[in-house]
Amino acid sequence: MNLDKSVLQKGGIAIVLLFLVACASTKKESRIVTDFNPDWNFKLGDYPTAIQADFNANDWRALDLPHDWSIEGTFDKDSKTKQAQGFLPAGKGWYRKVFTLPENFSNKSISVEFDGVFKNSEVFINGHSLGIRPNGYISFAYELTPYLHFGTQKNIIAVKVDNDAQPNSRWYTGSGIYRNVRLVASEKLHVAQWGTYVTTRGITKEKAIVDIGVDVKNGLGINKLFKLVSTILDKNNVEVAKAISDGNIPANSILQVKQNTKIENPILWNTENPYLYKIVTKVYDGSTVVDTYETPLGVRYFNFDAEKGFSLNGKPTKILGVCLHHDNGALGAVENIHAIRRKLTLLKEMGTNAIRMSHNPHSLEMMKLCDEMGFIVQDEFTDVWKKKKVTNDYHKDWDAWHKQDLEDFIKRDRNHPSVMMWSIGNEIREQFDSTGVRIARELAQIVKSLDKTRPVTSALTENEPQKNFIYQSGALDLLGFNYKHADYATFPERFKGQKIVASESVSAYATRGHYDMPTDEIRFWPKKYGETFDGNSDLTVTAYDNIASYWGTTHEENWKAAKKYDFIAGTFVWTGFDYIGEPDPYPYPARSSYFGIVDLAGFPKDVYYMYQSEWSDKNVLHLLPHWNWKAGQLIDVWAYYNNADEVELFLNGKSLGSKSKKGDELHIAWKVPFEAGTLKAVSRKAGTIVKETEIHTAGEAAKINLKVDKTAIKNDGYDLAYVTVSLQDKDGNALPTADNLINFKVSGGAKIVGVDNGYQASLEPFKADYRKLYNGKCLVILQSNKKAENITLEATTAGNISLGTVTIKVE
Ligand code: GAL
Repeated sequence: MNLDKSVLQKGGIAIVLLFLVACASTKKESRIVTDFNPDWNFKLGDYPTAIQADFNANDWRALDLPHDWSIEGTFDKDSKTKQAQGFLPAGKGWYRKVFTLPENFSNKSISVEFDGVFKNSEVFINGHSLGIRPNGYISFAYELTPYLHFGTQKNIIAVKVDNDAQPNSRWYTGSGIYRNVRLVASEKLHVAQWGTYVTTRGITKEKAIVDIGVDVKNGLGINKLFKLVSTILDKNNVEVAKAISDGNIPANSILQVKQNTKIENPILWNTENPYLYKIVTKVYDGSTVVDTYETPLGVRYFNFDAEKGFSLNGKPTKILGVCLHHDNGALGAVENIHAIRRKLTLLKEMGTNAIRMSHNPHSLEMMKLCDEMGFIVQDEFTDVWKKKKVTNDYHKDWDAWHKQDLEDFIKRDRNHPSVMMWSIGNEIREQFDSTGVRIARELAQIVKSLDKTRPVTSALTENEPQKNFIYQSGALDLLGFNYKHADYATFPERFKGQKIVASESVSAYATRGHYDMPTDEIRFWPKKYGETFDGNSDLTVTAYDNIASYWGTTHEENWKAAKKYDFIAGTFVWTGFDYIGEPDPYPYPARSSYFGIVDLAGFPKDVYYMYQSEWSDKNVLHLLPHWNWKAGQLIDVWAYYNNADEVELFLNGKSLGSKSKKGDELHIAWKVPFEAGTLKAVSRKAGTIVKETEIHTAGEAAKINLKVDKTAIKNDGYDLAYVTVSLQDKDGNALPTADNLINFKVSGGAKIVGVDNGYQASLEPFKADYRKLYNGKCLVILQSNKKAENITLEATTAGNISLGTVTIKVE
């Protein structure tokens, strides 16, 4: 890649990012941020000589980042990653990229930024090692300047990734450079990496005071006088406040400058209206702007109260949260803003207002979207401290790296208005012994030294105060409890005066579209301590919300408990989406989890609508199961509804009576002998119809239906379109149990980057141009291939079933 070209094509190849923005009006005015993802070579294995300029990489695969080699592999029962990581491969791999830089870059300061490499990366530039980074979730940057060539001489960047020591995680991590990479060229006088820290105080209707800390870096060998101008712009880019300071920075040093200013009549950020300002900080050398740096700003205040729970901008607000792991289903760990937006959109529509970043730093795009879409974030550092959970996990790097990793994590994320809690760890082993006291204090102190505006929390499991040493440390501002819903009533007494959030809850199991009857009792799993569910032979779990882990409970029981107590600030359900790995108690071939409210392909399970009926103000009336059964079979019909006094059920036009929720119930149920036709529910409030829902018995398959989530995608190599595939009968009714194999053919401006059907024990590859339907559905993920041609996807299957086609425009 020739950077000369990319610099000229600003807005084309050069990407404009929220944090590091190129908006130059003269060459000198700003940093130049180049998308460094395209045009790498990759090979599995270990190639230490690849750092040399004359290394022959002709047989290496050409690819664009981000990339995860694990997701490309096949499931293997004997894989070293084991069940926890979904039986996918790990190992070692090398990446290499050749690039040139224009002559006029030779007086700039140039660095490379990696958002995440899993794991144990070592980066080399022109044969020099820039450093290692064991932690695969931490973002990091290296200064390249002293080692670079300019003009026609080629530069070689090589990255070694070593994910070989397994098992090293309790869930799927992915392997490789799985997040974005940028090349940043600044003038020698510039804002340092993560160099701003913005906080607000004194927020009233009339004003908000904004404090801005800026780390100015001088890479020149002489002292420099400079001017710093930070301008606050509203959503429409209208200036609303400004701070100006002067300084004198010594040669080769970083100087911290403190500014403050005031926004009049601020518009507050909240989960319904996540209003964002931005701060544009310009560094002047004399009258020339030498750097421009952007920081997001949301003006909001919040409080955790030991009795009343959480409030946002003074308004009592229950935290309606879900925990998420970082994988993007069939894309594996590959970072993609469109994949994340799809997940968050589904969760927002469900009524979710909060995300817990389990159990590690997530991507920049995830953080940015939480700001923009209005989610309250619990940002979490780690799953282990010094004491291991699995043989090769982060405990091995703890002593050498935890301080720097934690500092970098806080510095990267502390300007996000969405972040309202720092979790220093999940279910940390040290809570059970006295070492927990020292480490909890040390970590809390590190966090506080960088940000005092959010509480420090930790997700605990031990709820006997005297036995919990992390609690005993006194270092937590907010106690997080995982599970323990049956003990909530005792918490105010046990933990007097403490603020409490349910950092993790539920862990109930379900397979989308699979229904076991009868549904009269809740059963627990695994069948260990007298629990009553022992699994199904096809490795499914019913989607009626009645199978839960013995440490958790059903979604319904948990939410009933969480909503009952004001002092519980809210709940983070385990999990929003199924994720790869942790399918246990099922053995191979089960390879992804059963805990999601939404399956791995992004298809909601039925309990999604329970949450939507409780957490959102949309009118909900959802019926389950489907309506394709044997004549006379007694079917448990459930309905989730809201905003109504009663629901009347009709089978083929005949009323089966009305029901309403009793007490704190969150669903209603009928037992109905099956008869083919139409099952219809009508919800009414004071006699007026609120909503009607119908499900139909589907006949023979007649055609393939393709439903795409977008009519057009961008021609940028990144944009995605998600296509849901189903079979329909001649009247357009979807076949709810179809499992046909579907073949795909795509032409034009996209390629297939993933297929899935949400079945947790499917061994079909995620990278393929075919997929079996599972309980009536499968998914194809298309990604722009940079060709400016409209896209056509064709789907075919055996039998007398017409093909499905869909066309997507490319913009
Ligand atoms: C929790 C743990 C999660 C996940 C979950 C499964 O105890 O924090 O990471 O393992 O159990 O139920």
